[in-house]
Amino acid sequence: MSKLIIANFKMNKTESETKDYLINFLSKFEDDKADLILAVPFTSISTARYMLSGRNISLSAQNICEDDKIGCTGEISGKMLADSGVRYVIVGHSERRNRFKENSKMINNKIKNALKNRLTAILCVGESLVDKNTMNTLSTLKNQIEEALKGLYENELENIIIAYEPVWAIGSGKTPTEKEIELAVKAIRKVISDDFSQKASEQIKIVYGGSINPKNINKFKDIEELSGVLLGGACLDSNIFMQIINSII
Ligand code: 13P
Repeated sequence: MSKLIIANFKMNKTESETKDYLINFLSKFEDDKADLILAVPFTSISTARYMLSGRNISLSAQNICEDDKIGCTGEISGKMLADSGVRYVIVGHSERRNRFKENSKMINNKIKNALKNRLTAILCVGESLVDKNTMNTLSTLKNQIEEALKGLYENELENIIIAYEPVWAIGSGKTPTEKEIELAVKAIRKVISDDFSQKASEQIKIVYGGSINPKNINKFKDIEELSGVLLGGACLDSNIFMQIINSII
């Protein structure tokens, strides 16, 4: 099975910058080599959709409103996202949990709204440095996953991807050891098997994100339990991004 590669642009690239980026990137990328999902800013979705037409590359949003009710100035509904050509949406990223105070109830609502609109939610979970230093990594993961997936039916997990992103690894240049990632992924699968089923826990896709770059990519690509990776800073330069893709495939 080809590896899943998710690129989170975060709040980077204007619409015209995205266009220039994609002209360069699409001339090099061979669609059948990897499952690629580009999470571009809202303002670039329409241009990216146009440029990706006929290509086997998916688009993701980076956020979704908790519900599609009216009276939400500044928010983007699930219906709007689905109509814009997006198939995925990132939910629960630590930058939104921490800076925008998104709590577990909001994350649960966002996931439900994504599913209602036939979008696949990329649920980010991960421990803080304090959690790690106090040996609370696995309990944090369990709690975040259980709260985020509360009330979901087992068949809905087909439309969930879990991204393990330790908060301390994001943008820091630091990464967990292979052993630490394996333990985290096993713990995530155990939560899914305890709360849903063994089958669901075997089938759910889990990716790793946090300070991945061309030098350390080899460490992640051979971890069998992982379905792929979630990149931040390293996807912003299309040449660096291609180097990473070429190392994974
Ligand atoms: P970095 O790869 O820049 O550490 O970011 C990871 C991330 O937050 C992706 O969602």
